[in-house]
Amino acid sequence: MSATVLVTGGAGFIGSHTCVELLDHGYDVVVLDDHSNSSPRALERIAKVAGRPVTAAYESDLRDRRALSAVFAAHPVDAVIHFAAKKAVGESVEKPVEYYDTNVGGTTALLSAMREHGVHRLVFSSSCSIYGDAAKVPLAEDDPAGPTNPYATTKWLCEQVLADVCRRLPEMSVLALRYFNPVGAHPSGLLGEDPRGVPNNVMPFLTQVAVGRLPRLRVFGDDYATADGTGVRDYIHVMDVADGHRVALEHLDDDTGMRTFNLGTGAGTSVLELVAAFSRACGRPVPYEVTARRPGDVAALVADPGAVARAWNWATTRDLAAMCRDAWAFQELNPSGYPD
Ligand code: UD1
Repeated sequence: MSATVLVTGGAGFIGSHTCVELLDHGYDVVVLDDHSNSSPRALERIAKVAGRPVTAAYESDLRDRRALSAVFAAHPVDAVIHFAAKKAVGESVEKPVEYYDTNVGGTTALLSAMREHGVHRLVFSSSCSIYGDAAKVPLAEDDPAGPTNPYATTKWLCEQVLADVCRRLPEMSVLALRYFNPVGAHPSGLLGEDPRGVPNNVMPFLTQVAVGRLPRLRVFGDDYATADGTGVRDYIHVMDVADGHRVALEHLDDDTGMRTFNLGTGAGTSVLELVAAFSRACGRPVPYEVTARRPGDVAALVADPGAVARAWNWATTRDLAAMCRDAWAFQELNPSGYPD
């Protein structure tokens, strides 16, 4: 019998790619998603790409404890991958309570249901944003945290809750994966990033400019202490992020307790370098203008990917050109995103 993985936020950008990866590797997948920032259509695309559907998909808020408990009761869940969360930095500054409630409250509701149903294995979606305005890059897991916005603080708080729960409940095994900047799409062009409304993040913004939905990219500041003055990030292909989660499941039982790993490439790319790479991928120059800095942004965030390489012999395999090519293929095939 194959193992069943509950994927919260499984219809979202990273969640949907991870579902395909799990189905491709023989796992049975149960999805729970409230579709507040994802399309139910993604589930159809998952089935199309993987050649078989998820076992079940529930539309529900994680904090609906009765509904959550029923999901655990209905399926023999071996492990949970927990993506479901709000993730827009700017919005988190305006609505901090909502962010704490959804992200931290969702995680504690999930932990309660896991306890109730005897499930001890969890992969948690964390973020490089917990490092905050880092004094140096690359960043290793034991570098100090200093979240600069409520979104990042929710991720940092969840990590601490999980670490403390693991200290007190020795049967628990938790892996927190701190992703740097996931971009790209499934190479089929059928799955990708389809944010609701105007995108916050740079790659979906770029693809929507290229396809003509938005006039030009605004480059948020060119006076940072970086080589060309624009913000530097460690972009990681979403297929590598998905692969990292599948490999994490295989390593959950290496040890009990809480372990934390960066998922990044170790390479920094500036906004202008990203615009140039994306322009090559889509075959036309993408218009942009330099504007003021975006509040809360930091100059550079780049992973030291050494720990996960040493622990699991794992590293990313896809480069920036592939990230741009695949992001563009999805946007070209789905100019308005997933159909309504
Ligand atoms: C942020 C979070 C990250 C989170 C991600 C998902 C921080 C430091 N990082 O990433 O943890 O996972 O959101 O929402 O809180 N840019 C432009 N023009 C745009 C958009 C972005 O120039 O229209 C620039 C930004 O200034 C930045 C880079 O592009 O230098 C990447 O921005 P973005 O894609 O929004 O990601 P982060 O802010 O790095």
